[in-house]
Amino acid sequence: MSYKLLFVCLGNICRSPSAENIMNHLIDQAGLNDRIYCDSAGTSSYHIGSPPDRRMSAAASAKLGIKLRGQARQFQKLDFQEFDLILAMDKDNYENILAVDRSGEYHHKVRLMCDFCSRHTFKEVPDPYYGGPEGFNQVIDLLIDACEGLLDYVNSQEKGFRE
Ligand code: 4NP
Repeated sequence: MSYKLLFVCLGNICRSPSAENIMNHLIDQAGLNDRIYCDSAGTSSYHIGSPPDRRMSAAASAKLGIKLRGQARQFQKLDFQEFDLILAMDKDNYENILAVDRSGEYHHKVRLMCDFCSRHTFKEVPDPYYGGPEGFNQVIDLLIDACEGLLDYVNSQEKGFRE
């Protein structure tokens, strides 16, 4: 059984698909494909079915040489059961995820993505949607840092290595 990570932002077309694809890139490099599974979702229904934003894909390609794959979907209650760890890109996302878990049963599974950064001091991954290209580049830089920390964290969890 693999350790399951879900990355969540607002639209699931910029930040969370980037996090998912960057994490998968690191997982490939570490040879941990059969141990860690990644997915992403948005708290909103705005872009359901859409591929990642072109501006985000351009930044991921330029900075890391990776293509962003994915089709936006909305976060749902069942995701709390399905995933081991849910990573919110910003505090609004975090609150909106917790609002779906009225009992607080799954609160412990939800974390802010920037908690895993070691080089950057940002507390949130800023929403790049209405800004210029530098915002998209910054998202990639932050997510590389956070994904590296997250991979270390998952590796340190016993479950990450249980069949
Ligand atoms: P994301 O970016 O949450 O990182 O996917 C956004 C995408 C769409 C919108 C806002 C943020 N929007 O308002 O449509």
